[in-house]
Amino acid sequence: MSSVNPLLIQPTRPLPKEIAIIGAGTIGPDIGYYLKSALPGSRLYLIDIAEQALKNAEIRYSAYAKKAVNRKKMTAEQAQAVLENVIYTADYDRIRNCDLVIEAATENIELKQKIFQMIEERAREDAIITSNTSSIPADRLYLRLKHPERATVTHFFAPAYINPIIEVVKWSEASLDVLDYLTWLFAYTGRVPIVTDNVIGFMLDRIFDNWCNEAAYLLNQASASQICRVTEKLALQGPFFVLNMGNGNPIVDETCTLFMEEGDHYRPAPILRSVEKWAVPRPGTEVSVPEDVGKVVMDRMLGLLFSQSFDIADRVIGAKEDLNLGCQAALGFRRGPFDLMRDLGEKEVNRIMTQFQKQRPGFPMATQPFSFYQDFKRFVIVDDVDGVKVITIRRPQALNAINDEVNSEIMSVLEQDADNPSVKGFVITGYGNVAFSAGADIGKFPETLGNGEAAEKFARDCAALLLVIDRMKKPVVAAVNGLALGGGLEIAIRCHSIVAMRNAIFQFPEVTLGIIPGNGGCIIPYRKWPQGAAVFHDMICLGKRLSAAEAAQIGMAGKIVDRYDELIREAVEEVKNLQGKTLTLPDGPVAIPEIVIPDPPMAGKLTLSKEAVELIAQTIKDAAAANSLQEALDIGYRGVSGLACTEAARKGITAFLEKKKPEFKK
Ligand code: COA
Repeated sequence: MSSVNPLLIQPTRPLPKEIAIIGAGTIGPDIGYYLKSALPGSRLYLIDIAEQALKNAEIRYSAYAKKAVNRKKMTAEQAQAVLENVIYTADYDRIRNCDLVIEAATENIELKQKIFQMIEERAREDAIITSNTSSIPADRLYLRLKHPERATVTHFFAPAYINPIIEVVKWSEASLDVLDYLTWLFAYTGRVPIVTDNVIGFMLDRIFDNWCNEAAYLLNQASASQICRVTEKLALQGPFFVLNMGNGNPIVDETCTLFMEEGDHYRPAPILRSVEKWAVPRPGTEVSVPEDVGKVVMDRMLGLLFSQSFDIADRVIGAKEDLNLGCQAALGFRRGPFDLMRDLGEKEVNRIMTQFQKQRPGFPMATQPFSFYQDFKRFVIVDDVDGVKVITIRRPQALNAINDEVNSEIMSVLEQDADNPSVKGFVITGYGNVAFSAGADIGKFPETLGNGEAAEKFARDCAALLLVIDRMKKPVVAAVNGLALGGGLEIAIRCHSIVAMRNAIFQFPEVTLGIIPGNGGCIIPYRKWPQGAAVFHDMICLGKRLSAAEAAQIGMAGKIVDRYDELIREAVEEVKNLQGKTLTLPDGPVAIPEIVIPDPPMAGKLTLSKEAVELIAQTIKDAAAANSLQEALDIGYRGVSGLACTEAARKGITAFLEKKKPEFKK
């Protein structure tokens, strides 16, 4: 593929105006709904010979739209636009004008081949054709296609109307143009495409199907409920619960039969054929599991997971970072398999694998040293654009929120090429169209609540990246592609320049959580753009949101653009313009206007904690009066420590994690 961040791809086709989905079973309508809601102006044909399936799909679409409106994810008008121009039909002739036709019929190769023939007889010659097969390689599906170069597999995961991951399969006949376009299109419409090799089961179903199959083999040692309970430590739902949700036994049976081409060890467990529904409780239900049984189950399931992960990495079926992310975002694993290996350590992984090999001979084992499976960046992807390193934060499950690893991965890219004469500079951006970064990872905060020392240390640790940016001689430009919040905004403002999308939002929402932007947020803006001081008071003390245009007015943002590719292009140009012209941050005290705190302090409809606002305001004042930048930054870190010990912080953080609105008392 030409780019690792798919939004850097220059698409060679426009957005699809007419799309057809063949198959109105479970996943077909969900794929259609995702595309129609992302491209409401398009026309969608949902095609199936079963009338009832089409009727059910129509009901499902209305329910999804209603839910989106109730949850304020869509306005009523937007929902209306999504539901308009959806044609539920049995007539294949309707695909004549379609730009994209996605097959989502039953997992049966003969049926699928027949469908592709019917599609090719009717579709335009340049229409893209894809299959949502979860396991059949593209060369087998498209055997009889006259124009296989415009066909591939695009594999979605349940529930496809919200599941972010889509596998795009790279196979020998498909044109690079088509693969690039699909990858770009999925990212453009808010998804996370991952490119995989054209092997049976592609990447993620090699994990999923074998995971379920292994669970079935373990039934002679533990009950289905016990296996679910144990594996819930690794994934949100146990394998039998997941199988029940999608009537998945036949698919696992068929896919594992296909895997047998790679060895008899993949043989499907016979019990899959004799059971229709597994008697397992809802996830989270207490089930008694004797310790020794729990250990047997855990070791075996980890053995299977690691075996598949080694194999995928060794054969480069997909990228390690994509496997790690895909297992979490598509399959609901709590940690990626390579993270689990790291947590357990090499010795324990070796023990598990030695045992697994004895119990399940034939399964792939590691062929490389342990370090090979850890050697990749989990959260940032790096592209080279015209001699500039474009660093994209990719953590879609948390709106690109910054954790320690994101920080250190960005830092390592900067440090690696800081003195490399062939690198002109760096751009930092966020993956997707929603967020540059939604701030520091709030999940980390509870550890620091009530512990000033830990909070200050946390702030100082996070600051390491910002200090590296301060020291960079090469330009570092922030390309703000959406929300730049809290710790994310602190990274952006530390860069030498900011370019932004028109719909970008700049905000320090910390005060709404009862905490403080303690990594330069209370300091840097006043020193860089003193003309905006009054605006910064409102942003920091009252959580005021700034649009890109407002940020440009006070000089904080430079160029404002409408498209992601323009954003990166402008950011790269800015790196070139700034060669040898990066300014150091002003030292010494700065004059700021008085901070007037309204009573009660409000952020929109939320009444803020007066105590928190006052502490924040004091930090701003003390930092402005500080004799040096370092002293000011230290005041900021101490501010983090002070706020962490307030009742406001406890309430604010707890409320966010419980998805509630905080009620500050003082
Ligand atoms: N840290 C950790 N996780 C975060 C996060 C952060 N700063 N911001 C968002 N997320 C997670 C959410 O918890 C959610 O995870 P889930 O799907 O597992 O529940 C996911 O990202 C999507 O966010 P969600 O809140 O469901 O999206 P939304 O569109 O309803 O709201 C925001 C978007 C940005 C308004 C909201 O996520 C938010 O307020 N985030 C916190 C912003 C903040 O205060 N940052 C400053 C911290 S220093």
